[in-house]
This record gives sequence, C-alpha cells and structure tokens, in this order.
Amino acid sequence: MGLACLLVFFLPGQERLRQRGPMNTGHDTVACASCHTQAPGTIRQQIQANTRFILGLRKTTVDFGHRPVENDQCLACHERPNDTHPIFRFLEPRFAEARQTIAPQNCVSCHREHNGVRVTAEPSFCSSCHQELRLRKDPLSITHEQLVKGEKWQTCLGCHDYHGNHPMNAPTSLRDTIPIGRILDYMDGGRSPYPGPVRHKAEYVEGRQE
Ligand code: HEC
Ligand code: HEC
Ligand code: HEC
Ligand code: HEC
Ligand code: HEC
Repeated sequence: MGLACLLVFFLPGQERLRQRGPMNTGHDTVACASCHTQAPGTIRQQIQANTRFILGLRKTTVDFGHRPVENDQCLACHERPNDTHPIFRFLEPRFAEARQTIAPQNCVSCHREHNGVRVTAEPSFCSSCHQELRLRKDPLSITHEQLVKGEKWQTCLGCHDYHGNHPMNAPTSLRDTIPIGRILDYMDGGRSPYPGPVRHKAEYVEGRQE
C-alpha cells in the first residue's frame, strides 16, 4: 500500500500539469510556464531525494516536477514601484499577526489562481492592519476612527484601491463611496469601478510566454 502511494506520487507523468480550474481575470493567455517553473534537478534526482526523505535519510523533501509559485513570478509581469501595499513591508515584525491571518506578504494569498476571478480575498481584510486608524485632520464627513469603531470595513475599498494603481483621489463623503456590490463584482472579475487606465499595466515578459 505504502509503495503504491509512493509510485503514484512519483510517477513521472505527474510532472505534466493539468489545469486545475479557470484562469483568473486577464490570465487566459498567460503561459503555464510563466508561473510554473521546473524544480531544480532531473526527475530521477527528485525521486531519489524524496525517497531518501521517506526512508528518513534526508531532513526535507525537494520540489517534485514544479516549484511552488512565488511572488517573483507575479512581479516579473506586475512590477509596480509605487505600490501602496508592497508585499516586502509585511515581513516586518509588527505584521506577525497579519501574516498568520491573511498572509499579505504573498500575492497568491489574495489572488489565488485557478479560481476564475480577480481577487479571492474578503473585501474587509483591511481590518487586519488598520484597527488603529486615526487621521490627524480627518476630511471625512464621518471620521475614519468612527468607521473603524463601527466596523465599516466594507466601505474602505469604496474610497481606496489596494495597490494605489488607479488614478484616483479618495472622496470625502460616504455618499460618493463606490457601493460594495460593484466592488464585489470587480473582485469576481467584472468591470473596474475605479477610474482608469491603471498607472502600471501588466507586461508580458520576454521569453516567458510560449
Ligand atoms: C498566474 C500564475 C499561474 C498560471 C499562468 C498558471 N498557474 Fe497553475 N497554479 C498557480 C498557483 C499560484 C497555484 C497554487 C499552487 C502553487 O502555489 O503551486 C497553481 C496550482 C496549479 C496546479 C495544482 C498543483 C498543486 O501543487 O496544487 C496545477 C495542476 C496547475 N496549477 C496547472 C496549471 C496549468 C496547466 C496552467 C496553464 C494552463 C497553469 N497552471 C497556469 C499559478 C498559475
Ligand atoms: C507572463 C506575465 C504574467 C504573470 C507571470 C502574471 N500575470 Fe497577472 N496578468 C498578466 C496580464 C497580461 C494581465 C491582463 C492585464 C490587462 O488586462 O490589462 C494580468 C492580469 C492580472 C490581474 C487582473 C488585473 C486587472 O487589471 O484586472 C491580476 C489581479 C493579476 N494579473 C495578478 C497576478 C498574480 C497574483 C500573479 C502571480 C501568481 C500574476 N498575475 C502573474 C500577466 C501576468
Ligand atoms: C492582502 C491582499 C492582496 C495582496 C497580498 C495582493 N493583492 Fe493585488 N489586489 C488586492 C485587491 C483587494 C485588489 C482590488 C483593488 C485594486 O484594484 O487595487 C487587487 C488588485 C490587483 C490588481 C489589479 C489592479 C491593479 O493594481 O492593476 C493586480 C494586477 C494585482 N492586484 C496584483 C497583485 C500582485 C502582483 C501582488 C503581489 C506582488 C498582489 N496583487 C498582492 C489585494 C491584494
Ligand atoms: C498587511 C497590513 C495591511 C493591510 C491588510 C492593509 N493595509 Fe493599508 N496600509 C498598511 C501600511 C503599513 C500602510 C503605510 C502607512 C504606514 O506606514 O503606516 C498602509 C497605507 C494605506 C493607505 C495610505 C496609502 C498612501 O500611501 O497614500 C491607505 C489609503 C490604505 N492603507 C488603505 C487600505 C485598505 C482600503 C485596505 C483594505 C482593502 C488596507 N489598507 C489593508 C498596511 C495594511
Ligand atoms: C468616503 C471615503 C472614504 C472611506 C469610506 C474611507 N476612506 Fe480612508 N481616506 C479617505 C480620504 C479622503 C483620505 C485622505 C486623503 C487621502 O489620503 O487620499 C483617507 C485617508 C486614509 C488613509 C491614510 C491615512 C494617513 O495618515 O495618511 C488610510 C490608511 C485610510 N484612509 C484607510 C481607510 C480604511 C482602512 C478605510 C475603511 C475603514 C477607509 N480608509 C475608508 C477617504 C475614505
């Protein structure tokens, strides 16, 4: 039984990718290999290393076939120097709790691929970091402090985008907030409710797509 599982897991055919679900918004023409790069070593070496792990002769497994998808893959096509929430910031110690709950240091935490949508995070995730929000001179008709107290986390994306990539000024009145329905529709892959075009467009990186 153990051996059978082992064989299925290591069968070289496993290394060929079969798609899991519909690609996320904008990714229909992005080649699999842009995100799924081959793990180092030949299949034979990977099998040997993993067998040694199972036999207790090695401390860690090695990636089999393909490496996990990492931020570098995303950033190759989505580099944005002025991101208002750059992932690297969230490696700081003060975000330890947020790393536990929403893992904001990884693109795929909020953009889980193969789900046929644009954003997979809940729109209220701002609460993980902005609980202490207080503006010295708050321009809003209802202050940020009151919004936080009232747990109005569904309003945030109605006045602010997350990456700061849309050319927009946040409105000062709750009446001008983009309704949550349109935000959810956008996250699901619908039309953008924010002004456009975006400051930094996605780029196909030379030699990445087939
Ligand atoms: C924009 C990046 C991206 C593209 C393009 C992409 N994938 Fe993925 N894929 C992911 C991510 C992220 C995961 C989650 C698991 C991981 O991190 O490896 C995943 C998981 C998978 C898995 C499950 C593997 C596992 O370990 O759970 C398969 C199979 C897969 N993708 C196949 C494909 C195929 C086939 C294509 C091309 C049609 C493709 N993918 C294109 C990002 C991508
Ligand atoms: C080979 C280049 C490439 C890679 C790699 C890539 N993307 Fe994309 N991505 C694109 C293109 C091209 C679009 C479509 C942009 C458009 O429609 O203007 C896109 C669209 C998107 C969108 C929707 C953008 C919008 O304006 O609606 C999101 C979100 C996104 N990508 C996130 C990611 C994440 C997260 C990863 C890493 C897992 C990733 N991308 C990897 C090229 C890439
Ligand atoms: C903590 C959650 C979170 C993380 C982590 C995250 N995003 Fe997003 N992303 C969002 C939300 C929410 C939106 C929709 C609001 C907006 O457009 O800014 C979005 C929108 C986008 C868009 C479309 C709008 C635009 O800015 O062009 C792209 C492309 C994108 N993300 C790429 C990425 C990439 C690449 C990474 C990693 C470097 C990443 N995101 C990390 C939450 C996240
Ligand atoms: C993982 C933590 C984290 C999450 C989640 C988060 N933020 Fe932030 N945000 C920050 C940090 C850090 C700054 C930079 C300000 C600072 O240094 O204190 C910031 C800055 C901002 C700014 C000011 C940007 C500028 O430079 O003008 C806005 C607006 C903002 N966040 C809105 C949001 C909204 C809306 C959400 C939810 C969709 C959100 N944030 C989620 C950590 C976070
Ligand atoms: C009615 C629109 C509106 C809503 C709703 C709103 N904001 Fe703001 N926000 C603004 C304006 C206007 C500013 C000040 C000008 C600017 O930074 O764009 C601001 C500023 C900020 C800043 C920058 C603070 C600083 O010290 O510079 C952060 C962070 C922020 N908002 C987060 C949030 C979060 C989190 C929520 C949800 C609880 C939220 N906002 C809801 C309009 C809004």
